[in-house]
Amino acid sequence: MNKVVNILGIESSCDETAASVFSNDHVLSNIIAPQAIHRYYGGVVPELASRAHQQKIIPVVDEALRATNIKKEDLHAVAFTRGPGLIGALLVGVSFAKAFAMALKIPVIEVNHMQGHVLAHFIRKNETSSHPQFPFLCLTVSGGHTQIVLVKDYLQMEVIGQTIDDAAGEAFDKAAKILGLPYPGGVMIDQHAKNGNPRAFTFPVPNISGLGFSFSGLKTSFLYLIRDAIAKDSSFIKKNLDDICASIQHAIIEILIRKMKKASLETGIKEIALAGGVSANSGLRSAFLKMKDELAWNVFIPPFEYCTDNAAMIAIVGYYKFLKREFAGQTISPLARMSF
Ligand code: KG4
Ligand code: ZN
Repeated sequence: MNKVVNILGIESSCDETAASVFSNDHVLSNIIAPQAIHRYYGGVVPELASRAHQQKIIPVVDEALRATNIKKEDLHAVAFTRGPGLIGALLVGVSFAKAFAMALKIPVIEVNHMQGHVLAHFIRKNETSSHPQFPFLCLTVSGGHTQIVLVKDYLQMEVIGQTIDDAAGEAFDKAAKILGLPYPGGVMIDQHAKNGNPRAFTFPVPNISGLGFSFSGLKTSFLYLIRDAIAKDSSFIKKNLDDICASIQHAIIEILIRKMKKASLETGIKEIALAGGVSANSGLRSAFLKMKDELAWNVFIPPFEYCTDNAAMIAIVGYYKFLKREFAGQTISPLARMSF
């Protein structure tokens, strides 16, 4: 077994082309090239995402390696996102990873993107980096997923609750679209919410059994509220934007927190982590941190740069799979849908 393991991580599942270089669990570089083109369309256009990945993948990998003193010949494996995600976008990363690894005669490691979000907690930036202890519960909230994951070990995870319709990120993005805010909407709602009253408008909380989530009813009641209010006053959104954003954000956070409380109560686990793009939301972060005092939760939230899509979270999974010699073959292909 190598003493030091150098891994290159590649992420291309949606609209970020990303590469990261690791030495064991230490992040040495983390390069992310976002795709601004989607702004003009109010959401990610799959075809354009694939083309942008194709253009950016080589420069991004080159930059990730240059930012370190690791040469490509020093790499021990290439870890890549196999899924879930946009198939055309994934194909670019998977094809690049396989070709690059083949040229270097090193193995490839397939990574589940959602597992990457969870293990982002174990990315070591410096000696003070802290992480949750096993077992812990991780609320993974992104543009495509909303899951409560019971994490038993680095590579042993079980989804114990998930959304039955929209994801939390989708709820943010759809609400933003209704308000005419630019994509990606979650960030915009977060910004406006900071100056608004979260109790200005109320929305019904869905009654979903067990640890499931639902956001489609919230989206509909939000749409109706805005539509009816605009019919009475065409400048309703402009006059109330901060309050509207604070209220919808509050409703989404309420749904998420309630189910995490239930999951914690049912499992007896108070080691609680947050992951995925929506965990960049400042309201959600502070709501979780409040639970430290209220419910004695031990709360873990990754630094912002590891919340939204990045390749460091892919490389860290790659590292733990490398230790177990969990390599993929050169015939591997991406999966748009992929469970743990
Ligand atoms: O994990 P991620 O980067 O990509 C996916 O795997 O989907 O998550 C993207 C989602 C988008 O829906 C985006 O609006 C949301 O994360 N997001 C936020 C914030 N930053 C990103 N939602 C609310 N507040 C934020 N600050
Ligand atoms: Zn993601």
